[in-house]
Amino acid sequence: MSDPYFQQLFADRIGGANYGKDGALYKFEKIKRAKRKALAEHPERTLLDFGIGENDEMAPEVVRKVMAEEINKPENRGYADNGILEFKEAAARFMQREFGVTLNPATEINHDIGSKPVYAKLPGCFINPGDVTLMTVPGYPVAGNFTKFYGGTVHNLPLLKENDFLPDLDSIPGDVLERAKLIVLNFPNSPTGKTATTEFYEKAIEFAKKNEIVVVQDAAHAMLSFDQEPTSFLAVPGAKDVGVEVHSMSKGFDMIGWRIGWVCGNERIVSAFADFKDNGDSGQFMAIQKAAAAGLDDASIPKEIRTKYRRRMEKLVATLTECGFDCQMPGGTYFLYTPAPKAFEGGPEFKSAEEVSQFLITDHSICTVPWDDAGSFLRFSVTYVAADEAAEDDLMAETAARLTELSPVF
Ligand SMILES: Cc1ncc(COP(=O)(O)O)c(C=O)c1O
Repeated sequence: MSDPYFQQLFADRIGGANYGKDGALYKFEKIKRAKRKALAEHPERTLLDFGIGENDEMAPEVVRKVMAEEINKPENRGYADNGILEFKEAAARFMQREFGVTLNPATEINHDIGSKPVYAKLPGCFINPGDVTLMTVPGYPVAGNFTKFYGGTVHNLPLLKENDFLPDLDSIPGDVLERAKLIVLNFPNSPTGKTATTEFYEKAIEFAKKNEIVVVQDAAHAMLSFDQEPTSFLAVPGAKDVGVEVHSMSKGFDMIGWRIGWVCGNERIVSAFADFKDNGDSGQFMAIQKAAAAGLDDASIPKEIRTKYRRRMEKLVATLTECGFDCQMPGGTYFLYTPAPKAFEGGPEFKSAEEVSQFLITDHSICTVPWDDAGSFLRFSVTYVAADEAAEDDLMAETAARLTELSPVF
């Protein structure tokens, strides 16, 4: 196929004139393809899918019930712009109830269509060409990608086992610090599962003040905290002076596809976010905002979701440990981040987690997500589909049967 006349017109940020030509596959696309191949070639083997990063259940009944009512109300039909007060007030009540954080719903909270787009917008509020965003790796890359789209650069802070999976704020070179405007933190961390300590947050606040950097704390997995009660960055004194926290209804409320989240904290930053956002979209459907507000007011929802994923995680940790993997219960999230084996006894050797992951899916129909950014690790998610606890146990027994045969070597 010959190039269209506009091939030369694509912007450099998406590859310029080479857009669509390099054929490189993203990690998740490779996994999807390998999954389809394993299913086609081995229909007799159940796919053990630890690769999915999405909740396996529908949104709670109360949320769906309010949605069903609100969808028929004419007052919900229009543009929602920067969001309705009813949702912001529910988010404020949630922040108070769960974390003891007091927020002014009118000025310190703004919704967005899930939390992902927040990471596209916040760099737009701060990053000029040449500015730097500090990003932890492995991690959720959206704020870094958009920093680059705006002409900035990303300085990576590796999350290493030897640093207890916390970023080393003292390692950042002076010239980077001078240009840095944003630091993106994420606790509970995806994929490492590490939860934040108050001491680390205090250190981050001091670091931000000293170096005049804005903190963006990604709380997408906030309610999935296992080693401590769910916490908020904003509960730490001084946090509101240096940044914002970004919350999501996706994980803690089984509302992945509903697309609702919010940014909260420093009033000036929330206002900049709202102004920026107002230029690009017209807000989430008001019926969804009202249904989400009903979910936020029901404290039992995130508790039950946390109990379920904790139970599944305990089973997975026990199963993988029994099979020779070196894993501990993560502090939070529904991801288990565990060192990738270098080989399986009597089998192939691996140079990366990606190779292990491809081998597991291709030869054993076990789907995982590889991370090779800071050491080689495999991510197992406990969001697999299982109707009840007996089905979870069967799935674990099948996992053990396949992995015991393999004997990982580290
Ligand atoms: C760490 C982290 N942050 C943010 C998001 C975005 O979540 P959502 O846009 O569904 O709120 C995800 C989703 O996978 C995530 O894992």
